[in-house]
Amino acid sequence: MTDTTDTRGARDTAPQSTPVAFPQDRTCPYHPPSGYAPLRATRPLARVTLYDGRPVWLVTGHATARRLLADRRLSTDRTHPGFPVTAARFAGVRDRRAALLGVDDPEHHTQRKMVLPEFTLKRATALRPRIQEIVDACLDEMIAQGPPADLVSAFALPVPSRVICALLGVPYADHEFFEEQSRRLLRGPAAADIQDARDRLEDYLGALVDRKRRRPGTGLLDDLADPRRPGGPADRDELVALAIILLVAGHETTANMISLGTLTLLQHPERLAELRADPGLLPAAVEELMRLLSIADGLLRRATEDIEVDGRTIRAGEGVVFSTSLINRDADVYPDPDALDWHRPARHHVAFGFGIHQCLGQNLARAELEIALGTLVRRLPTLAPAVPVEEIPCKPGDTIQGMLELPWPGRRLRTCTSPSTRTSASAPASAP
Ligand code: HEM
Repeated sequence: MTDTTDTRGARDTAPQSTPVAFPQDRTCPYHPPSGYAPLRATRPLARVTLYDGRPVWLVTGHATARRLLADRRLSTDRTHPGFPVTAARFAGVRDRRAALLGVDDPEHHTQRKMVLPEFTLKRATALRPRIQEIVDACLDEMIAQGPPADLVSAFALPVPSRVICALLGVPYADHEFFEEQSRRLLRGPAAADIQDARDRLEDYLGALVDRKRRRPGTGLLDDLADPRRPGGPADRDELVALAIILLVAGHETTANMISLGTLTLLQHPERLAELRADPGLLPAAVEELMRLLSIADGLLRRATEDIEVDGRTIRAGEGVVFSTSLINRDADVYPDPDALDWHRPARHHVAFGFGIHQCLGQNLARAELEIALGTLVRRLPTLAPAVPVEEIPCKPGDTIQGMLELPWPGRRLRTCTSPSTRTSASAPASAP
């Protein structure tokens, strides 16, 4: 890695005095870690150190983020030895090439074109009745079982899991297997877990694709495996790699948004009441929750050439990380950024990324979130978790953010303090 150059002088509002570690665990499930406080004041670019002490650029400013996320000189090729990683366990699995998010154009463009028609707004709209059926069925089961229940395993996870299975043509009967492998892929403690989970998913989806080649059924994987497909069936290895990212991204992310979105609504009773009174607010509420929660916090890139931006030079070979939780709280774009306020225009947030890798499933995710959250608040008017918020186990900072479980029902929650009023990473998550 080459040295960095600052060609613009100190324009930051409050430059960092010491390097800040990235990522850190959240101190409140829906606010950025309090340890990021110095970074919030350092826009649009800050310097942070990764787990191994490697310094990288952290993008914190909204306009700069959108400019850089659209810059083709930033690569997502994770197999490159210089690609930044956020935990030791990810460093051990660099050799595996991931589809879409792990490749640059033109390969990326070809892959994206293959799957894009299934993820348009029109397709997501057509799927809404099916999503509603799935949401109702999951909720019926949870209510029939009676309390106590875990909202994550009974609702937030099965809803997107069933939806993506139906869309891809993956048997939902196998959900325990692939949900467990997804968990190990994202949060397994060691590189060996990730390697093994990837192997198992590859074997499983490879066998499924082979079956579909012989006898295509209904689903995106069936369409792509079909020998009668114009231009021939998709390459087997490429199809398996695509199936892995679609299956994993298709359920993990949305599940976290449903659970964390629910918790956040419960902690803002006045907003919840407003939503109950006017379900027409749901699309705006989902957009604002996406902005505020920014569950995919830490998008990774490597510069392939020198890039001049905002008076600074990002040198070829340097790592660039996008903190969506900070970018989406850029006070120049979102006044009072820590407030949950869906009367503001939250559009243009980067919670789904931006540029060529912008989330493929965003139309589907929005439909799922609107239906899941809307149905939950309508059908469970007394919904409240069973424990105070600081006792609810959250996912670590180096993975997609969300709850590990959300016990239901229970007593009233205590709320998190605003992150701007907290000063250190060890500050308590909640205030009385
Ligand atoms: C609320 C839920 C979701 C969130 C917060 C989310 C977030 C994101 C983000 C931030 C990216 C860009 C990553 C980057 O640039 O480094 C991304 C990409 C992607 N997402 Fe999502 N996502 C969600 C739901 C989904 C769903 C339901 C699918 C369905 C298959 C999906 C599939 C993908 C794929 C395939 C990519 C890679 C696209 C590409 O490289 O062209 N996501 N997502």
